[in-house]
Amino acid sequence: MRWLVFLLLMVGGGSVSALPWSKDMVDQPSVKPQEKLVREAVGSVPATGKEVMPVPRDVADVVRSRLEASRKVFNPVVVDEASIARGKEVYAIHCEVCHGAGGKGDGVVGKKIVPPPMDLSTDYVQLQSEGQMFYTITHGGIAMPFYRDAIKVIDRWHVINFVKSELKPE
Ligand code: HEC
Repeated sequence: MRWLVFLLLMVGGGSVSALPWSKDMVDQPSVKPQEKLVREAVGSVPATGKEVMPVPRDVADVVRSRLEASRKVFNPVVVDEASIARGKEVYAIHCEVCHGAGGKGDGVVGKKIVPPPMDLSTDYVQLQSEGQMFYTITHGGIAMPFYRDAIKVIDRWHVINFVKSELKPE
């Protein structure tokens, strides 16, 4: 008797996946890939293809291009309360997990990354030009991800204003 139950389960179990209700996840009301044109929501980041800085080829190119950006790219956003406040928001959303709330490189995810996230309060970072930082945020680093498609240009400048005004040591 036990064997019969076992046999039925084996046979029954095998056929369950072929029954119609197993497709519920697929047939749910949702937009399928390439089904129709979906307009991006208002305020989402447009892929304009107008990014001025070319994507780096390798790590050496990142380092070289960061320095070049120092000489060529300048911050168009004035440092004021509104900019710092927006920068703080962007920082909390995108950077804090790695660099930590105080910028020390001790965020929850940051603790697991090699090389570890840079301490943003150090002179090495604080004395950098804004163009160089912009390049880092736009194209990332060795372990740091790039944000050219996730953070709008204007918000990248706000976050730089925040890092430079609020994360420098007392
Ligand atoms: C996934 C973790 C991670 C996130 C998120 C992250 N970073 Fe980083 N960051 C790193 C790591 C790791 C380094 C050092 C090594 C490297 O260049 O990748 C670094 C380095 C830096 C540097 C110094 C680069 C240099 O050598 O000149 C700056 C400036 C910086 N990050 C700013 C930011 C800002 C601003 C954000 C948010 C927009 C951010 N990071 C988000 C991991 C991260």
